[in-house]
Amino acid sequence: MSIVFDQQKQLLTLTTTNSSYQIQIDQLGFLHHLYYGSRTGSQDMSYQHLAQDVAFSGNPVEYRKSRDLSLDIIPQEYTSFGIGDYRVNSIAVINPDGSRTAGFQYVGHEIVKGKYAIPALPAAYDNGDEAETLIITLCDKVTALKLRLYYGVFEKQDIITRCAEIVNDGKAVTTLEKAASVCLDLPFGNWDLMHFWGKHCLERQPERNPIGHCITTIGSTRGMTSHQQNPFIILCDHEATEDHGDCYGMMLAYSGGFKAEIEKNQINSVRAVLGIDDTYFAWKLEPGESFHTPEVILSFADGLTSLSHNYHRFIRHNICRGVHHLQKRPVLINNWEATYFDLDEDKMFALAKEAAALGIDQFVLDDGWFGARYDDNAGLGDWFVNYRKLPNGLDSLISKINGLGMKFGIWVEPEMINEDSDLYRAHPDWPLTDPGREPTFCRNQLVLDMSRKDVRDYLYDCLSRLLSEHNIAYIKWDFNRCISNVYSHALPTDRQGEVSHRFVLGLYELLERLTSNFPNVLFEGCSGGGGRFDAGMLYYTPQIWLSDDTDAIERLTIQGGSSYGYPVCAMGAHVSAAPNHQTGRTTPIYTRGVVAMSGAFGYELDLTKLPASDKDEIRRQVRQYHQDEELIHQGLYYRLTDVTKGYYTAWQFVSEDKSKSLVNLVITGPQPNPEPLHLRFKGLDPDTLYSIEENGLSVSGAALMNSGYTFPRMAGDYPAAQLHLSAISAL
Ligand code: DGJ
Repeated sequence: MSIVFDQQKQLLTLTTTNSSYQIQIDQLGFLHHLYYGSRTGSQDMSYQHLAQDVAFSGNPVEYRKSRDLSLDIIPQEYTSFGIGDYRVNSIAVINPDGSRTAGFQYVGHEIVKGKYAIPALPAAYDNGDEAETLIITLCDKVTALKLRLYYGVFEKQDIITRCAEIVNDGKAVTTLEKAASVCLDLPFGNWDLMHFWGKHCLERQPERNPIGHCITTIGSTRGMTSHQQNPFIILCDHEATEDHGDCYGMMLAYSGGFKAEIEKNQINSVRAVLGIDDTYFAWKLEPGESFHTPEVILSFADGLTSLSHNYHRFIRHNICRGVHHLQKRPVLINNWEATYFDLDEDKMFALAKEAAALGIDQFVLDDGWFGARYDDNAGLGDWFVNYRKLPNGLDSLISKINGLGMKFGIWVEPEMINEDSDLYRAHPDWPLTDPGREPTFCRNQLVLDMSRKDVRDYLYDCLSRLLSEHNIAYIKWDFNRCISNVYSHALPTDRQGEVSHRFVLGLYELLERLTSNFPNVLFEGCSGGGGRFDAGMLYYTPQIWLSDDTDAIERLTIQGGSSYGYPVCAMGAHVSAAPNHQTGRTTPIYTRGVVAMSGAFGYELDLTKLPASDKDEIRRQVRQYHQDEELIHQGLYYRLTDVTKGYYTAWQFVSEDKSKSLVNLVITGPQPNPEPLHLRFKGLDPDTLYSIEENGLSVSGAALMNSGYTFPRMAGDYPAAQLHLSAISAL
């Protein structure tokens, strides 16, 4: 049993294979967070209790019963304002009488088999006998506001999920101004914070800094996850490396604005609070109503690599859903960087024909096939074929492409609208705009009000017609701007603080309807590249276009940075043209293949214009990818170098049974008198002899991991190398 209650000591202990988590209910009913970290069995961790004379350090708890009990220093599970905890809190309320204090005390708990679900929100799922759920109910006695804390314990996966539900059991309206998903207190230790910053065309750059005596806020007020920050943070011991050291991951499964607050207080206790962005949030909770926060996925591991492995497995098996998430993915050709908006049936068919000859499985028709879409000024919202570009309709092109033995996929951007569209002319009140104020445009488009059912019904109608009337195997779901003018013309004045979250709930509702009614369609997420790359989207779309930057060298940090939390099978990655359209850099086609193959693989360039040698290389890459795909997508991923430093970047895949491995190396720039290209491999079986396909060597796992391997010098600009290792025999 992974959740145990000790009645006498009022202890709740959650156990996974390598971690323990313990909560104690104190005599006043407050939940103390006693421990999260390496496994400590059933040990009562309250011997570490932080009893101090706190008469001057903050108010004692509600009834002032204990001079040595201050909520300001006690590690807790979920904290509120007004009762003496001055650190960042988990929840902020406006009570019916205007007061803002809340104090939640234990009422009861239940332990149930299986994993809880969250109404209208994505949540990790149990594949059968994998999880147990703990639900702790607390109540503010004065206002009858109830708080339910949910814990999903996935023992074998070393994952604990958390979320909260707030129920108004009172008689009048309460307003929530903040409702975080999780609070994690680490009372001891010396911690660094890792987060993943970025921008359009350079998402998820890892950054690691010591946590100082201040509050650090990481988040997005953009109504979307954002290119700038990702809702995944790591708290790791200052000495932690890829291989060892205490590491905590906190990942929010949510696709809207979010906030992570990390505070180190006067006694060096660190608190991390993570949840939806509360900057402009105000949610009216009528009597009897509940509010559910999104889910946070927690993991504790020894070393950053093990932490990544926990998230990779979990996202693959317990977040992504549908028929495709564990299946081989089609290698695709996307026309975007080949033609941009300048598409027609002949050009598309010529591209598809070339792709089919190279062994590519699927053709994807990107932006520009619908409405009056000749550039990015018009057409969004009109999801009907543009007969000037495709005079014979979609079916003519699709059947020709299917005739080549290829599947067909198509691009949409459902949440957006152009002023110059039939949809806008018919429904000017459907986008988010402020009354009487000029809206702010981005890429000449506005954002539809996804909180509205009529908007979602229209989109469902268009998209379900598209999918049922045509043989479409794949949808690329784009979202090319962040949200502004957050005002819904369908909601009353006092509910405008709910719009951002209702937008995300609306998006999820539409995605749920479409993915469940069209289960065979593979959905790929996208947001101007990787602006909405999160576990919430991955629940609906098992892969997401990682970045609009397709430059192989830049991709090394984007893919490497993303790999801390997300599996490579979730990362759309394409070989594009040289010189690269974003950076102007020329890299060899071999290198571009090596990098893009560590993802959901495809091509995005005009194949009809390539020299024969490049086509031969593409044919070889597609064959190789099909052979290696299982190892790449299901294997364990190891970062062999720091993805942000050095003149070469290397990473490795090892099959779970350690019988196969693929090592990848890319030179990222010139270096005078270069140091040897030396790597120590990881994850192999030390007592197994491995053959290396590329050079015929046979070397033991122990030697390859302890002494390592030195690659021969490589000539030219940005060369790359791959090594395939296969176990030959036990030693
Ligand atoms: C942004 C995406 O990331 C690109 O791949 C492409 O689909 C464009 N949008 C189309 O407008």
